[in-house]
Amino acid sequence: MKLSNIFGILTDLRFAIIASAKPTIKAIRDSPSLLFHLQELSKIIFYNVWIVYGREADENRQPMKESLITANSKGTVLDLGAGFGATVRYLSKDKVTRYVAIEPNVMMHKHIKDTAEKAGFSEVDGSLVVLSCGAEDYKVIGSALGGLGTVDTIVSVLTLCSVPNPEQTIKDLVVKLLKPGGEFLFYEHVQSKKKDVSFWQWFWTPIWKTCFDGCALNRPSDEYVRNLPYWEPIPESGRDSEGKQVGVWGNPGEEEEHLWWHQIGRFIKSS
Ligand SMILES: C[S@@+](CC[C@H](N)C(=O)[O-])C[C@H]1O[C@@H](n2cnc3c(N)ncnc32)[C@H](O)[C@@H]1O
Repeated sequence: MKLSNIFGILTDLRFAIIASAKPTIKAIRDSPSLLFHLQELSKIIFYNVWIVYGREADENRQPMKESLITANSKGTVLDLGAGFGATVRYLSKDKVTRYVAIEPNVMMHKHIKDTAEKAGFSEVDGSLVVLSCGAEDYKVIGSALGGLGTVDTIVSVLTLCSVPNPEQTIKDLVVKLLKPGGEFLFYEHVQSKKKDVSFWQWFWTPIWKTCFDGCALNRPSDEYVRNLPYWEPIPESGRDSEGKQVGVWGNPGEEEEHLWWHQIGRFIKSS
């Protein structure tokens, strides 16, 4: 692996520290007890980093998101780790009846609501639901949505890296919340299949995780989803009857030897 790919993360860390230092210090000054609540502090840091980098992260991925999210989302859409609500901008009002944003960082909620309103989803008519629980709280999500088995589409963009107990969480979401025929769509950075890259992902994860609200670089989230026994068989062509991609595939043009190695996935739950 190239040294620039191994140690480039230090530049990312430096930018993140620069972006979040002022507001984080102010938050500690206003509430010194934050120093004893590292998880809360990490949320403040991540919020301020995402204010600076969230839009860029979204804009660079627009074509991929259109072909994954816009083309396949319908009915009730559960957005895991909604952040500032970037996903709602890719949902078509003609096909999507309810946008459900799962976002434990409540600092993000005002942004989610503003973005969703602009996209035509509103809490007033019930087409927008914002929940502060985690993706792992499937019971809370189910009861807020009026029952289990009520979700048509689950979307996860750069979130499975942060959820606790990801294998069980993904399974619960698919088994308990997703309807038969519903789809699980994801775009995630995952554990590399290359040994040297996965070693460095493992090496950097403790530092990165501490600064970025639990974000792990070394999770095989794509495998966790793919290995579930609830999916319709994937055709050999990797495309469904409409010619749309299904299964797991890579980000076109992305370097393989990268600490943030992304995989894109689309799975359909068996009826
Ligand atoms: C990298 S951001 C991605 C945000 C958004 N999906 C996007 O693409 O802009 C990851 C998000 O996951 C949220 N998150 C962290 N732990 C979570 C959990 N247990 N369940 C759901 N979301 C979580 C974070 O608060 C953060 O907003």
